[in-house]
Amino acid sequence: MRSGVEDKLLPVTNLEKLSSFKDLTKNFEKGAYSRVHKVIFRNHEIALKKMSLNDTPTLRVYNNEKHILDLLSRYLTNRYNLHIIRCYGYSEENLSSAFVAMGSFAFESASITVSVYIEKNNFADLPRLYQIATETAIGLNYLHSFCSIVHGDIKSSNLMLDANFRVKIIDFGFAQDLNNKINLVGGTPNYIAPEKWINQSCTTKTDVYSFGILLFELFIQAPLYPEIKTEENLKKEVCNGKRPNHFLFFTHPMRELMDECWDQDPEKRPNMHEVEVKLKAW
Ligand SMILES: Nc1ncnc2c1ncn2[C@@H]1O[C@H](COP(=O)(O)OP(=O)(O)OP(=O)(O)O)[C@@H](O)[C@H]1O
Ligand SMILES: [Mg+2]
Repeated sequence: MRSGVEDKLLPVTNLEKLSSFKDLTKNFEKGAYSRVHKVIFRNHEIALKKMSLNDTPTLRVYNNEKHILDLLSRYLTNRYNLHIIRCYGYSEENLSSAFVAMGSFAFESASITVSVYIEKNNFADLPRLYQIATETAIGLNYLHSFCSIVHGDIKSSNLMLDANFRVKIIDFGFAQDLNNKINLVGGTPNYIAPEKWINQSCTTKTDVYSFGILLFELFIQAPLYPEIKTEENLKKEVCNGKRPNHFLFFTHPMRELMDECWDQDPEKRPNMHEVEVKLKAW
């Protein structure tokens, strides 16, 4: 069912000023580039992601996310995907007093990140972990196959659950439009595929690699590389074939899929459609 707020704000266009709405959060969530507040806007709770446009690296991430969300809004108006966070719009404003420019994205409000869910629940609800993996695969397959978008930063803290525990993929700051590469490659070190370390390659298969690491986070729940202390070493080791250690979990049904997803050779990794089909058959 479409809510009132959606009707008014889709597709993504310049919104009216968002900074003055009633803020529900004293403790906002902090990302590397943003602060996310929950606010009341036209009687709806929304999540407002605010980014400083004065800082050059943040401005680049903001512009990248805006380009991708604009693109997504065109697809999502026609064919809504439940597992991609909905963006209602954005606004850019100068906070006149201090020459500070802020950009804000208005998103549908989700409940908790998958990383927090895992921390709180561990293995208490195994079917839920399968559901999280499957729904993430559905969302990613949709991004790859219908939108030609690579997410670029898949990890448990960029996945959220809504009040009904449905997965919502968030954070398009490092996403790539495969039809118009604007070359902002980033990501989170533990999830970066070897070819991305080596030549900045960002393809659907680099997302598949990150998805393999996510499976380890969900189903093994051990530290990824406890013995590696620096990013330089991580890069060297991963490029030489090192992966999170699931040796002790040799009977785990997800092991094979992890190995396939994080294969050193991107060509040998399955695509997200194949991953989705496998997970649905479990
Ligand atoms: N739609 C939403 N509903 C509720 N909380 C959200 C929403 N979007 C983001 N958050 C919270 O804000 C945090 C930061 O958001 P996001 O990942 O988009 O920002 P970021 O600055 O790009 O983060 P990073 O680069 O650190 O991954 C999330 O981890 C989550 O806790
Ligand atoms: Mg994030």
